[in-house]
Amino acid sequence: MRMYDIIVKKREGNILNEEEIRFFINGYTNGEIPDYQASALAMAIYFQGMNGKETAALTQAMVDSGEKIDLSDIEGHIVDKHSTGGVGDKVTFIIGPLVASLGIPVAKMSGRGLGHTGGTIDKLEAIEGFTTEITKEEFVRNVNTHKLAVAGQTGNLAPADKKLYALRDVTGTVNALSLIASSIMSKKLASGADSIVLDVKTGSGAFMKTLEDSEALAREMVTIGNELGKNTVAVISDMNQPLGFEVGNANEIKEAAEILKGSDVKDLRELSLEIASQMSVLAGAFDKPEAAREALEENISNGKAHAKLKEFIEAQHGAGEMIDDLSKLPQAEYHVEVPAETGGYVNEIDAESIGVAAMYLGAGRQTKDDKIDHSVGITLKKKIGDKVEEGEPLVVLHSNMKEPEDSVEKVKKAYTITSDKKEAPTLLHNIIK
Ligand code: URA
Repeated sequence: MRMYDIIVKKREGNILNEEEIRFFINGYTNGEIPDYQASALAMAIYFQGMNGKETAALTQAMVDSGEKIDLSDIEGHIVDKHSTGGVGDKVTFIIGPLVASLGIPVAKMSGRGLGHTGGTIDKLEAIEGFTTEITKEEFVRNVNTHKLAVAGQTGNLAPADKKLYALRDVTGTVNALSLIASSIMSKKLASGADSIVLDVKTGSGAFMKTLEDSEALAREMVTIGNELGKNTVAVISDMNQPLGFEVGNANEIKEAAEILKGSDVKDLRELSLEIASQMSVLAGAFDKPEAAREALEENISNGKAHAKLKEFIEAQHGAGEMIDDLSKLPQAEYHVEVPAETGGYVNEIDAESIGVAAMYLGAGRQTKDDKIDHSVGITLKKKIGDKVEEGEPLVVLHSNMKEPEDSVEKVKKAYTITSDKKEAPTLLHNIIK
């Protein structure tokens, strides 16, 4: 078999078979196939696409290129959740304890963030002492005992994807549906859960800007999951503005803990309950999401979900008292209001710019080696559809700089205020099974 023939076959719009896809992935991972041939094939796939079978074969080959986490020592049906990423997305800290409070095991492998705000691990590390550097044995023990554990991703999950993603990034081939879907799913499938709920974001602050593209990506990922033996459901949710009111690290943990205490931040609570319901159904605990939702809401009201958050934090060596008293979480020195320059209604909030403004404060990394400041972040005071008077604060910047000018400017540009009222965007667009 020759890589040249595989490239030409795809360039001409033909369907690659499993053997050819494996030949490419194995050869590329072990260095026998050079970058220039891999990028030619990626570009051919970009223009010609791949069908469901090809995409599933590509995903499986990437899963097989590295370590697969064996979670067979965990009792029960394990459900994982993945978000395609968005600003203010703290859903994991809510659905983890919520689903676990029903006795359903949640075993999460997570990463750090390179971008606007921290990743799941960075945010959790806002809690003093909390660590995700636990052994496989501790991870399994914690899931069996507490029904919830979060571990840092090991270096060797789907190494083929790591190499190919880096290549796509510099060759204009990231935005190919089958390549994105197989990339995301290869990492999820290697992480060992039995079922997966995907939160596919759509809108200005999302990877996929249009509903059509987001649905196409979701369908592709659900097909891959189901083809490869994992029950997979995708929720398409809105990312035309940050989720909830808090963007940062400690302040996102705070907002998540408050939801588990019963606070009603509408979009955040709604999305979390939807995802948690879908997870509970996939785990086989309920027939219908409505029944799961009732039980989940009950566990918020009776305090079990909040107690589970504290139990999980303490099991991973974190200071549980910070969850009881959220004012003990790291606090920034200054709280700088950004006032509206005109009155009217909030028409748009560019989520990405809010994320960048948070990063300028130190909530995220600009380069891999940057250190995160857990105490800084942004509290949104106004969201789409809200009325605002001239001079009223749009956001509060929690900063350790007295005059965070760059963030102030970024926030001002992120908000569009108009004289006519716009309705808040629909939160849940679709569920794809
Ligand atoms: N995220 C991934 O992990 N892979 C992609 O290709 C795109 C986004």
